[in-house]
Amino acid sequence: MSRLLITGGSSYLGQHLVAQARRHPGVERALCYTYYNNDPLRGPEGRRLDVRNGEAVRRLIDAFRPDVIVHTAGSNRPAETMDAVIRQGAEHVTEAASRHAARLIHISTDVIFDGRHAPYREEDRPQPLHAYGRAKAAAEGIVAGYAQHVIVRTSLLYGLEKMDRGTEWVVQAIRRGEPVTLFTDQFRNPILVTALAAALLELAEHTYTGILHVAGAQRVSRADYTLRLLRWWGVEPGKHVTLGPSDGDRWPLDTTLDISRAQALLKTPLPGIDALLPSIMPIS
Ligand SMILES: NC(=O)c1ccc[n+]([C@@H]2O[C@H](COP(=O)([O-])OP(=O)(O)OC[C@H]3O[C@@H](n4cnc5c(N)ncnc54)[C@H](OP(=O)(O)O)[C@@H]3O)[C@@H](O)[C@H]2O)c1
Repeated sequence: MSRLLITGGSSYLGQHLVAQARRHPGVERALCYTYYNNDPLRGPEGRRLDVRNGEAVRRLIDAFRPDVIVHTAGSNRPAETMDAVIRQGAEHVTEAASRHAARLIHISTDVIFDGRHAPYREEDRPQPLHAYGRAKAAAEGIVAGYAQHVIVRTSLLYGLEKMDRGTEWVVQAIRRGEPVTLFTDQFRNPILVTALAAALLELAEHTYTGILHVAGAQRVSRADYTLRLLRWWGVEPGKHVTLGPSDGDRWPLDTTLDISRAQALLKTPLPGIDALLPSIMPIS
């Protein structure tokens, strides 16, 4: 790989991806990452970019001339700008990528599915239930119009060195003494963030195009997942944490991804959570 651009280098995923890319043979001198509000990495390769600004996206990509773009910017945060960042970002990055015939790896999510027909394969039709899922599904549609694309759908991201944002939210609520319900009826296949970063760098040098499900090898409930992580981080759930079902139809219940295609295609191992964090729940 010669020239790699990572959008959202300041994201939870982006920070791990940039760290690995810096050590990746051939990339160390041809790496650029973008941030918007914060640059926790403070690297010489960092550039501020608002992906909603098409002219700015074009200028940056024309100047850097990437061979590969990994577009991670566009999560469910912040809520106020989420929709525009995801949709316009995908549009602007895809348009600029096509001007340079760059390979475009776009990060998507399992919550484009309705959660009623798991496990989901790459061919399954997105049926999002909420605004974030709808925006990410729309972004996929934009990216899919460009031949040199890979749409990577993934699941909950967690790390063993840096706490993920979801767990951080639960820990803060526990510390404030607020009640938290950990859902026993929502199932995902979480992935170690460093494994996803490694898979993305492998894909950057691959010839595969199309959709690819890259997640952990094991289905687990949100409750089981969060309890494992709380124990890993040494946080006692205490009396404010309860286990129970989620509230109605607002969230997809089971968005487990079938990852058999990624397992066949990639050398990068995609371990399940049991391999990394033992369960403390009697039933999952
Ligand atoms: N986290 C998960 O569990 C999960 C699960 C499935 C899929 N994903 C996907 O993985 C990717 C990374 O998620 P994440 O949770 O790691 O992200 P995150 O930590 O929430 O970070 C969001 C990123 O978007 C950037 N951003 C916000 N507004 C922007 C704008 N106007 N222009 C450019 N960049 C902007 C932020 O930059 P600043 O911080 O500098 O403002 C930050 O880099 C996303 O595509 C997400 O959909 C995540």
